[in-house]
Amino acid sequence: MLDIQKQKVFITDVTGRDGFQMEKDWIPTEQKIAIINGLIRTGVKRVEVTSFVSPKAVPQLKDAKEVLAGIEKGDAQIAVLVPNKKGAELAVETEIDEINAVISVSETHNRKNVRKTVDESIQEISSINSIAKEHGKKMNVGLATTFGCPFEGLYPVEKVEELIGRLTEFEINSFALSDTTGMANPQQVFNFVEYLKSAFPEETFSLHLHNTRGMGLSNMLAGVQAGIEAFDAALGGIGGCPFAPGATGNVCLEDAVHMFEQIGITTGIDPDLLIGEAKNLESVLGYTLPGQVIKSGQSTKTYQA
Ligand code: COA
Ligand code: ZN
Repeated sequence: MLDIQKQKVFITDVTGRDGFQMEKDWIPTEQKIAIINGLIRTGVKRVEVTSFVSPKAVPQLKDAKEVLAGIEKGDAQIAVLVPNKKGAELAVETEIDEINAVISVSETHNRKNVRKTVDESIQEISSINSIAKEHGKKMNVGLATTFGCPFEGLYPVEKVEELIGRLTEFEINSFALSDTTGMANPQQVFNFVEYLKSAFPEETFSLHLHNTRGMGLSNMLAGVQAGIEAFDAALGGIGGCPFAPGATGNVCLEDAVHMFEQIGITTGIDPDLLIGEAKNLESVLGYTLPGQVIKSGQSTKTYQA
């Protein structure tokens, strides 16, 4: 028997941000809006819609404001990623609920990603946090390269602990332990989560996983076993960090929902509607998506003999 206590998990869709940031060909704004609104109709309750980043760094997301204006949010929570104070200032002019700041555990990845030292990024997070609090927005922090860095390799959990320790003064809503280039394995996920939850019992953690080496769903399950209940995922398994070599897609949203529902953990998301949305995304992007369930449907599907 699987030793899992959780009966439900909470999945944030990051297609509009982590997914689209990796797409080279321009996706028209209306198509981005249609995909995200479709996702909300499947039951997704939290969506990271886009980023307020430099249009030179990530040209695909230069329509952040326009995309947000087209979202029919219903009862979903709307989050955006911001890399700096300027991003936070732009974000709070819109109808968002949450701001996700980002900082890397690895000094090298932090410089590549946001062109700052880790110390400078902590200062930036302090400013972003003040702006978020002033405007009544929840503030989350994504800890990129938590489970290893493509430049610096693997490191002990104490390195992650040290960074979180420096951020606790800001009263962060939740920390997303992020496996930016899919270096984590299930044992490591379990050990890191168990260690960090006991080191910071007052803090809330989620997992942001990539399927770069095929361990995404196993890592999710290891996270559930270690007591995590919130995860990120992207439709079709698209996405990745443009500033990390070897980066590939997020854990696939419909594959994750299918797995959880099959083992009796509810997600509140309709798997069939989700597969329909993944097919829509596939036709928008014009190539075969990495996800699996989109190819053969749910495991309960039967064929005429
Ligand atoms: N939104 C829009 N424009 C921004 C911006 C933001 N959040 N931050 C900076 N800019 C603009 C500045 O206005 C300036 O414009 P100009 O050249 O027309 O004067 C230009 O970008 C450079 O500003 P600067 O503060 O010097 O930034 P930088 O060149 O050092 O780049 C970042 C730093 C963080 C803005 C940039 O690296 C970035 O956006 N990175 C994206 C990281 C990311 O999305 N990673 C993947 C997800 S984790
Ligand atoms: Zn990511």
